[in-house]
Amino acid sequence: MAKPVKKGDITEIEIIDLNFRGQGVGKIDNYVIFVNNTLPGDKLKVKIIKAISKYGIGEVVEYLERSEKFEKPECPYFFDCGGCQIMHMKYNEQLKYKRDILINELNRNNLENIDNVKIKNTIGMENPYRYRNKGAFPLSISNGKLLIGPYEKGSHNIVNIDDCLIQNQWTEDIINILRSFIIKNNISIYNERTHKGSIRHILMRNNQKDEIMLVIISKDNIKSKLNDFVEKITKKITNIKSVFLNINDEKTNRILGNKNILLYGDEYIKDNIFDLKFKVFPHTFFQVNHTQTDKLYSKALEYADIEDTDIVYDLYCGVGTISLLAAQKAKEVHGVEIVNESITSAEENKKENEVENANFHLGSVENVFPKLYKKGIKADIVILDPPRKGCEELVLNTLKEMNPRKIVYVSCNPSTLARDLKILQGYGYNINEVQPVDMFPHTTHVETIVALYKKD
Ligand SMILES: C[S@@+](CC[C@H](N)C(=O)[O-])C[C@H]1O[C@@H](n2cnc3c(N)ncnc32)[C@H](O)[C@@H]1O
Repeated sequence: MAKPVKKGDITEIEIIDLNFRGQGVGKIDNYVIFVNNTLPGDKLKVKIIKAISKYGIGEVVEYLERSEKFEKPECPYFFDCGGCQIMHMKYNEQLKYKRDILINELNRNNLENIDNVKIKNTIGMENPYRYRNKGAFPLSISNGKLLIGPYEKGSHNIVNIDDCLIQNQWTEDIINILRSFIIKNNISIYNERTHKGSIRHILMRNNQKDEIMLVIISKDNIKSKLNDFVEKITKKITNIKSVFLNINDEKTNRILGNKNILLYGDEYIKDNIFDLKFKVFPHTFFQVNHTQTDKLYSKALEYADIEDTDIVYDLYCGVGTISLLAAQKAKEVHGVEIVNESITSAEENKKENEVENANFHLGSVENVFPKLYKKGIKADIVILDPPRKGCEELVLNTLKEMNPRKIVYVSCNPSTLARDLKILQGYGYNINEVQPVDMFPHTTHVETIVALYKKD
């Protein structure tokens, strides 16, 4: 098809859809144009910044008419920042959008009988701000100016922020104190191109009591230069219970290096999920949104409806949060996880919570799960919470052979979820209910829980 526009053209367009990346979709004579920071119903003047045979990309020159779904974003950095994609959308519309993304994927995969499956409304937050208990921002110097903040949409340039509305309420104070300290003391900042300089990132974590852990990530050991900073920030923000210097001297996008040096306070902050206690260290994987984690896990446990005679697998178990909750009801639980540190934490969490009927297995699910089955550990219920790529064929094959009564699938990717559900339907499972949960308001992330019950 001949392109109706070329790079540099300025044209008028109406946005008719929003894709899974949160980009508005418009069409000129069936030629698709994607435009950031727009919503269905927006009428725009756009400048074409890219035009290839399959699609074009436009940049807003002027909003001629704004969509009914539009709401002025609370955050002044929204239009540049890559952290949130849909904060310009009314929150109830965000929840509908997430459910629609899911339904599109389920339909695209031709799932059996999907019209009769209950796909519930997305569970949202009463107050969808300040919800993250963990945030990391890179630092850089640009034209002699210190920048602290998230990356811009689609680039590694930093948006210089004072505050971030999805992070904890102390973010503004923490950034300000760090910024003044660095400028006053002329502390060097890491340059990812030359691999020179010291401070790379700042990482903040907090628990439900609002106690904070701060981690300064540096290429080299600048411990002696941070004494004043630690003294000042812990006096000003008394909620800070722990400050670490983390050394990361590798050329990598990974934020944390392997070495942690405690500069102040405790080695961990304690957190809870329901009545279970968890120790959170700088490296610990922990669900980022407390409020929604409670809702997500409650739903997963409701779908699992575990009886005291049940043997339960928690596949892709992380630090064992779901396993330990399931263990309160089940006869026996087996968690499987590939990351060594997470399994070590899971074992510690098991001890801390005096749980005796949970067992943790280190290794890939595709390797360990079939082996455990061959050893004779057969489940009544399997809870799956895989990474974005979903389950490997070997895992699904083992489920087919093992034939558990119920499968509860927790997914962060509707596309691989729909693919795996189609396969599980073929293995004799009915999809009973599908529940999207908004774990990350203002972003395009969609988390879903599905209850699958074996056909009689
Ligand atoms: C979405 S997280 C779920 C964590 C946990 N269920 C929770 O709620 O905290 C996925 C987990 O799967 C682990 N993982 C990724 N690939 C894996 C594999 N092939 N086998 C086992 N675990 C894997 C990751 O390390 C991560 O902890």
